[in-house]
Amino acid sequence: GWTMEAFVDKEIARIRKLVGDDGQVLGAVSGGVDSTVAAKLMHEAIGDRFHAVMVDNGLLRRDEAAQVKATLTKGLNVNLTVVDASAKFLALLKDVADPEQKRKIIGNTFIDIFEAEATKIAKAAENSPRAGPINFFLQGTLYPDVIESISFKGPSATIKTHHNVGGLPEKMQLQLIEPLRELFKDEVRAMGTNLGIPSELVWRHPFPGPGLAIRIIGSVTPEKVRVVQAADQIFIEEIRAAGLYRAISQAFAALMEGKAVGVVGDQRLHGWIIALRAVVTTDFMTADAFEFGGEFLKRVKNRIGNEVEGVARVLYEITSKPPATIEFE
Ligand code: XMP
Repeated sequence: GWTMEAFVDKEIARIRKLVGDDGQVLGAVSGGVDSTVAAKLMHEAIGDRFHAVMVDNGLLRRDEAAQVKATLTKGLNVNLTVVDASAKFLALLKDVADPEQKRKIIGNTFIDIFEAEATKIAKAAENSPRAGPINFFLQGTLYPDVIESISFKGPSATIKTHHNVGGLPEKMQLQLIEPLRELFKDEVRAMGTNLGIPSELVWRHPFPGPGLAIRIIGSVTPEKVRVVQAADQIFIEEIRAAGLYRAISQAFAALMEGKAVGVVGDQRLHGWIIALRAVVTTDFMTADAFEFGGEFLKRVKNRIGNEVEGVARVLYEITSKPPATIEFE
């Protein structure tokens, strides 16, 4: 019968055969489960001939870049380069309020930075005595993405732009390698567990590519990023402490536009408005707001009020999808 152990072994053998004895592979990692599992699998198959790159866009959850780096390098031994491009992203996003414009800037900047790093790695690889040039590009495409892109574009084009890192494979003449293309999400999680990836990462809620930029309504500033990161960290910490993380599909804090009046001590405060969102869904196409019982939300509100400077209000978002989306922008 089919077992995950046998599938992993078969997939490792297939990767080794495909890449050959001295081929090298490049790939992007985000800290999410798909790219982490794909990266670990590549490392099992070809060791340091797999080169992972993570771009820190400054719009990740608090401490996330450092955590991903620690997990992948120390924990999983993956050959990873983290590029800190926060300042560049934040500068390009300055005064940009339109959500689609924000997405476009973040997507294009990601491609620029990733390509620059890829070029550096490729140059270094040319001088490596132990290995050949980089000739493959890893994509963590899952089976549902394969199906979706076939039905959208016909069988010849199998990559959604959403999942594709720009034109890199064509520009560098790289061949695609997609080791997860036969798997559903639950099978990727099983594979992750099988490969020894920590369960906290295996069960991580999804996080959008544009990151906190689509959880900050309107223009993005370093101050707004600080506030939403701090509130988000408290919310997620309390969800974990209450044992609710796995029951919720996705949860986060968002920052509303404008300010509201509040009182701190005997002072009026014109402060930020935080909205908390937690949803339950199976396919992310429809979703219901999670119903927290008891004193949970009050506890989170108190902590945010006490620990995050400049917040005047904390709201809980109860709109389902549809009519709302999960993200705010
Ligand atoms: P929405 O907000 O469309 O979200 O209900 C559905 C799922 O998709 C994620 N999402 C994105 N992921 N780039 C991404 O990589 C995006 O621009 C984007 N917008 C939404 C969202 O986090 C949720 O899991």
